[in-house]
Amino acid sequence: MKLIKNIFACFCLTFILSVAGQAQDLQHEGISQKGWTAKKELSDTLTKRDPEFNYYEENVPAFELTDPLIMLDGTEVADPETWKLKRRPEILELFRKFVYGRAPIERPEDLSFDVFDVNREALGGKAIRKQVRVNFTGKNEGPFMDILIYLPNHVKKTVPLFLGLNFQGNQTIHSDPAIRINTSWLPNEKEGVENNRSTEKTRGVKSSRWPVEKILERGYGLATIYYGDLDPDFHDGFKNGVHPAFDKQDARPDDAWGAIGAWAWGLCRAMDYIETDLDIDQKHVAIIGHSRLGKTALWAGARDERFAMVISNNSGCGGAALSRRRFGETVERINTVFPHWFCDNFKKYNGKEDDLPVDQHMLISLIAPRLVYIASADEDLWADPHGEFLSALYANPVYRFFGKKGLEIDYIPPLGKPVQQGNTGYHIRTGKHNLTEYDWQRYMDFADKYMSK
Ligand code: GCU
Repeated sequence: MKLIKNIFACFCLTFILSVAGQAQDLQHEGISQKGWTAKKELSDTLTKRDPEFNYYEENVPAFELTDPLIMLDGTEVADPETWKLKRRPEILELFRKFVYGRAPIERPEDLSFDVFDVNREALGGKAIRKQVRVNFTGKNEGPFMDILIYLPNHVKKTVPLFLGLNFQGNQTIHSDPAIRINTSWLPNEKEGVENNRSTEKTRGVKSSRWPVEKILERGYGLATIYYGDLDPDFHDGFKNGVHPAFDKQDARPDDAWGAIGAWAWGLCRAMDYIETDLDIDQKHVAIIGHSRLGKTALWAGARDERFAMVISNNSGCGGAALSRRRFGETVERINTVFPHWFCDNFKKYNGKEDDLPVDQHMLISLIAPRLVYIASADEDLWADPHGEFLSALYANPVYRFFGKKGLEIDYIPPLGKPVQQGNTGYHIRTGKHNLTEYDWQRYMDFADKYMSK
């Protein structure tokens, strides 16, 4: 198998990309001189706090990455048809088998949509609001998820849409009193939660992450779902959420879907609804996710080509960050603290990242040639900003293979200077692990360029 050799030593980066059979040698002058680098004081502080994790670029080990354009049997992908029919399914299967697990079903036969709220004069007339209960099995007791949708009002055409899971319930994204309060499980530590259920006090508590009016002003719609409707985020042996409704065997195989698999599957079912909604431009749906939900957005976008654009906000380990870099969070750490997120096979690679049959640049390549945007934050070293950027960069050969430009810079850009080239976007902003209005505005800039309204 042909490999891309990637060596980080003394801040010096050299790699060889094979583009459609043509080896292209890219020499880099050094990531410490150009673009962003982590503040040493921050690396020192984090190291003091968690000495078992690496926060220094010079300690990233040498590693090799698989070329996404070389098949498992060693042959090069010669044309887009081979990518679509052979290599893409091959990589997808590797991710199913070794990382996120396999959903036992795609669209269930009894999937139903109950649009229980439509208000064409919502938010003081600015928005059309819809709320939709998606029932996965046709049984009254569920499982089901509620989609909250805001669309810009008084627009003649169908509108492009951002779709994303939220962490604390639909009513937390805006103070609109008509949003149905979520009834699924939530951790008691979350603001306004009592006895693991949301109360009225949770309305709007997460609105800073969801600038609804600003999104509408720019001509986009927004749809969101509480991720716990699909699978409450704690390890209960997969007894709640959508898993028990569809898992066939009692003994779960090593490649059975985990929580991320279920959350991503839910986004695909939301797309099933969107395809029926005549107010939405279904050809221009972007999925967005922050952190664990960024990992989820990437996996959903990789597996479902109906999504035109995929946005990873600070997704880190198991998301956009390359696992082999072992910078910040590692495969072992994520599998230990969150044993329910991935499939059991992934745990076999704890401390053995070099043996993984995939790395996360291959996940990004599954999104090609569609739009992908990856974003990091400079204080979020746990998520490895460099690793997040590099997986976008190393997916570029696949974009180029499809005649798209790809990123024209081969080093991480400076702080607050987004790059949006070809079908790929990346930025690193100042601040902490979070989804901010700055991030949203950049995603909308990118969407303005490429997702025609
Ligand atoms: C933890 C976890 C990350 C995850 C994050 C989040 O920090 O280690 O992998 O992205 O939680 O989802 O907030």
